[in-house]
Amino acid sequence: METKVFQTSEIKEAAALIKQGELISFPTETVYGLGADAKNEQAVQKVYQAKGRPSDNPLIVHVASKEEVVDYVKEIPEVAETLMNHFWPGPLTLIFKVKEGVFANTVTAGLDSVAIRMPDNEATLILIKEANTPLVGPSANTSGKPSPTMALHVYHDLKGKIAGILDDGETGVGLESTVLDITDPKNPTILRPGGISKAELEKEIGFVTVDQHLVSSDETPKAPGMKYKHYSPNEPVIIVDGDQQLWQNAVNHYQSLGEKIGLMANDEIIAGFSNQDIESFSLGEKGNIQTASHRMYAGLRHFEKTKATIILAEPYPENGLGIAYMNRLKKSAANQYYQKNE
Ligand code: TXA
Ligand code: MG
Repeated sequence: METKVFQTSEIKEAAALIKQGELISFPTETVYGLGADAKNEQAVQKVYQAKGRPSDNPLIVHVASKEEVVDYVKEIPEVAETLMNHFWPGPLTLIFKVKEGVFANTVTAGLDSVAIRMPDNEATLILIKEANTPLVGPSANTSGKPSPTMALHVYHDLKGKIAGILDDGETGVGLESTVLDITDPKNPTILRPGGISKAELEKEIGFVTVDQHLVSSDETPKAPGMKYKHYSPNEPVIIVDGDQQLWQNAVNHYQSLGEKIGLMANDEIIAGFSNQDIESFSLGEKGNIQTASHRMYAGLRHFEKTKATIILAEPYPENGLGIAYMNRLKKSAANQYYQKNE
């Protein structure tokens, strides 16, 4: 199958393919999604196949308005109303009790709940309206790989397997949406940290819980997707948490083992290695978590095209967006840190 790249002037053509049950990758403010008609069982099954996604991992349904949600869910709790008004369109996914028979069965992977979000991207909102149906949209990467933040990433992973990609340049946030379970409205629970922080949510609705499995990762989390190997580039990733001297020690250590280093860090750290022949990818100026989050997935994918055999990556403080950044980075590194005494 030829995978066509559509410009934002060609949304109608892309929407027509969705209506025919084909897969179209769409841009959002977080990462690119892999779109299909959420009411078409065969189309949804093709999404799982194209990604190589385990079938027990349910999909997010993307809508073009708050108003249509009432057609899809059993009830809209007051907290959901408040959150939708405040954060939609935007990087917040809400888990509702699903109405039976609305979506294709495989969308919810057998659960009695459904994840819904309204993405903040004009082209994609038009695509959903033109297709006249909500779209499932897992991140448009091969299962286990870093999520795509540009059309080129999608093309790399899924060319020949999907009908098209709607190209709208780079995504904004760069990390996926926050997934919040509000099926028990008295106990809203973050199942996956993301573009909207816990503090931002609490400002609107009061106390928010964080699924403990996200903290101690030895058990199965409630967001089924969080249990799988995730965000892994071809090269192993090691987190280096320390000053320039520690970075130098880490570089020396892995070079002595015969590794070719890829540095993924802020400009200052990279500048410290400018006289050495080392691959690097900048996460932006020191301390800027927005830029680091925006660039991280592109960085993880970058080194595939270089001679690097190992990626040394910079951690950020675990607050605000930094919680989502570290959640993804630790998974891509399988929690491996460079130890000072190595
Ligand atoms: O930013 C995003 O959310 C992107 C863009 C494309 O919208 N999408 C995305 O989808 O990240 P995906 O499939 O890669 O991640 C969806 C997450 C998974 O961890 C999945 O287990 C969880 O949401 N999820 C989906 N439905 C759920 C449900 N009913 N209950 C609990 N978790 C659910
Ligand atoms: Mg994903």
